[in-house]
Amino acid sequence: MSTTMLSAAEIRATFLKFFEEKAHKIVPSAPIVIKNDPTLLFTNAGMNQFKEFFLGVKDAPYKRVADTQKCLRVSGKHNDLEEVGVDTYHHTMFEMLGNWSFGDYFKKEAIAWSWELLTEVYKIDKDRIFVTVFEGDEKENLPFDQEAFDEWKKWIAVDRILKGNKKDNFWEMGDTGPCGPCSEIHVDCRSDEERAAVPGETLVNADHPQVIEIWNNVFMEFNRMKDGSLQKLPAQHVDTGMGFERLVRVLQNKTSNYDTDVFTLTIAAIENIVQQKYTFGDDLQSVAFRVLADHIRAIVFTIADGQLPAATGAGYVIRRILRRAVRYYHTYLGYDQALLYQLVPCIASQFETVFPEVKAQEAFVAKVIKEEEISFLKTLEKGIKRFEEYMNQWNTNHSENPGISAIVGTTTEDIIHELDKQRAKVVAGDFAFELYDTYGFPYDLTDLIARENGWVVDEAGFKAAMQKQKDRSRAATALDTGDWVILKEADSSFVGYQEYNTEAQVLRYRTITAKGKSQYQIILDKTPFYPEGGGQVGDTGVLIFDDEVISVVDTKKENNQIIHFTDQLPKDITVSVVAKIDWEKRKAAAANHSATHLLHAALKNILGAHVNQKGSLVSDSVLRFDIAHFSKMTDAELEAVTQMVNEKIRANIPVQIKEMPKEEALQLGAMALFGEKYGDVVRTVIIDPKFSIELCGGTHVAATGEIGTFVITGESALAAGVRRIEALTGAAAVAYLMEKAGVVKQLAEAMKTKDVLKSFQNLQEDKAGLEKQVAALEQQALAVQTQELISFAQQQESYQLLIHEAKVSQMDGLKKMANDAKALLGEALVVLYAVHQDKPMLAVAISDALAKTKNWNAGALIKSTIAPLIKGGGGGSATLANAGGSDVAGLKNIEAVIKEWIG
Ligand code: SER
Repeated sequence: MSTTMLSAAEIRATFLKFFEEKAHKIVPSAPIVIKNDPTLLFTNAGMNQFKEFFLGVKDAPYKRVADTQKCLRVSGKHNDLEEVGVDTYHHTMFEMLGNWSFGDYFKKEAIAWSWELLTEVYKIDKDRIFVTVFEGDEKENLPFDQEAFDEWKKWIAVDRILKGNKKDNFWEMGDTGPCGPCSEIHVDCRSDEERAAVPGETLVNADHPQVIEIWNNVFMEFNRMKDGSLQKLPAQHVDTGMGFERLVRVLQNKTSNYDTDVFTLTIAAIENIVQQKYTFGDDLQSVAFRVLADHIRAIVFTIADGQLPAATGAGYVIRRILRRAVRYYHTYLGYDQALLYQLVPCIASQFETVFPEVKAQEAFVAKVIKEEEISFLKTLEKGIKRFEEYMNQWNTNHSENPGISAIVGTTTEDIIHELDKQRAKVVAGDFAFELYDTYGFPYDLTDLIARENGWVVDEAGFKAAMQKQKDRSRAATALDTGDWVILKEADSSFVGYQEYNTEAQVLRYRTITAKGKSQYQIILDKTPFYPEGGGQVGDTGVLIFDDEVISVVDTKKENNQIIHFTDQLPKDITVSVVAKIDWEKRKAAAANHSATHLLHAALKNILGAHVNQKGSLVSDSVLRFDIAHFSKMTDAELEAVTQMVNEKIRANIPVQIKEMPKEEALQLGAMALFGEKYGDVVRTVIIDPKFSIELCGGTHVAATGEIGTFVITGESALAAGVRRIEALTGAAAVAYLMEKAGVVKQLAEAMKTKDVLKSFQNLQEDKAGLEKQVAALEQQALAVQTQELISFAQQQESYQLLIHEAKVSQMDGLKKMANDAKALLGEALVVLYAVHQDKPMLAVAISDALAKTKNWNAGALIKSTIAPLIKGGGGGSATLANAGGSDVAGLKNIEAVIKEWIG
């Protein structure tokens, strides 16, 4: 093994330097969250960002490239989630070190350099290494990879070159896309004794924790088509990926990735928070430590790249990972407060030099995680309660033996089986699914709690319920995407910054069918249509084929291709086409886009530099801008921002757009967004170099005066730490302001005042005064009426009995009158009733002494006798009670009923 122990940071740097010296361009990691590819939510391999270079749809700017890429494998074809933490070498988020050749070197160099780096530079023992080559596949008509085998033979003993099948040695990105045979490099980290006892080659690709794959060299030659066939790629490429965390573990001589300095700091931080020690074992506490140390990285990096936890899509994947982590610390470390967010500073400083986006947004990321944790901790507890209720319910229902007669069955066996079933405590699949769906319980949490209580979960039933839901949502969104029909292999370009009306050729098209309706996607060799991106909506317009006009309903970008969406295809798609955008719509969107830049700059000015963009929507009618900011903006801040933006509009500043090297733009102070991918040369939009410089591909006005007017129409909370600002520009802004002014004018006219606010305040004061007076008058009226009512009291042997109708609209008034009448009468039973809007109400008051001596209870009287009479409900104390009902007719019997009650 290695002679001196390198740190993780040194190991990463050594890899990059090695390939830099072999003429590779070192490029930054692409964002971990993928925005423009419907087939993939997250970067799951280093090669994702280079897909088009392999497919040949775009020329690579460099023939040789190397990097470290942030990857996430928790969804789709490559999904390791259930292994994570349970074993010691799978991760959700991991770094993949890679070197690439785009139509340049192939197997010979790739293999020689892998060997050189591992054995000469990192000095891994040669006799611990095994390599695999593709054995071929008859069904796919793919031969044995003789070339790779021959290249390896130059370096390593033949008995260490193992043949692998299609599953292990033919790498595919997804169901479709670039693919090819691959050659993996495995390292046997077992002790010498173990190695002598069991030959390493029998453990390769056998899930042995100490015989692990560290590097995969893929030789990209094919494109997997939608129909399953393989098409040869225009050129041959190399795509390699080395698991950084595994490499560090091998070089640092550890038996677990978690014992390397990639994770030890995080584990120490967790120990500190939960005040427990990590014990390196297979027990659930140890698993919990590893789960937390792993998951926090996935959560932090995805949020830093702009993906907030959410109920669907990529956001739901993050939410699931976070919940898995919460349940682990809650259940196994007995920690019931938010924990994960406390680890953010540790991750931020650890990756500060490699992935600075985390440090730069530390407070924001922590805030988002904390809120998410707190809200799940609440549901988690509720879910556990619900589960307990479910189990208790069963116990109650099954406390009595059902008896043999209740059992359906003809044979004794049937009956025994049925009895067993009835005795078994099975959590129904539908209930397990309710816990999953409503309370966010992952299946294994339900399973665990069930076991602890001596129950089992009907897993098949759970899966069936899950499948039912998936089928429902799939049916709602099912898309059948056909293969591209290629008319011409050529590059396509965007000309819409200068042209709005362009003559072009169709390169390819395809049909998409959803819910029985077909839509078409068309790619042109050049197009003025701006594809949705950078928050700006896609252009609409028309494609004119000879005399046939076809509407473009939207334009989007997928894998850097501009796709025009249409509802029909022309009769002849091979003729040349005039592509023409809706110019008015574009102009309005451009005004909103430039205004968004002004708004962004003004917000940073007024609120501070922490205000990072978290989302934006620029359409022709509105603009919406989401920012990382912790408090509601005050009216003064909103006004200052609005003033500043309008000042820049009035100054009619020319909008300069320049292409320049990224570094130069950043030096100028350009605002680059986290989670966006920029090329080496960037388009820079400058609106006064001292005010706003942004890297942006959107369309803009020529000078700010074209924006006309800017007005903020809304400011609200979008998520934890994120505020949403909505605004209008131009004619829409003026219309909005006019409408507001119109309302104020009408109010002024109606109130016959110039100062609407003052008049309104006066009105409010007057109203409060009047309400007081009304209340006082009502009191007086009630008192007068009470005086009248007591004259109807009938003297009984030792008390006065008053049963009479009162004129009052509120229950409170009726109660007061009954109580006052009782006080005036001395020893008394008072029953007053009234009708308001056809609804009867009743109040009963009994003097204290009477209630005691006669053992009368007003509340009981109401409940047992009076409420049923008027078909209603009520209650109260022994001396004062009331009821409301729905049957006025019942009132005519009231006196008789009360008298009968008195007896
Ligand atoms: N694409 C291959 C992998 O992800 C090698 O980079 O394993």
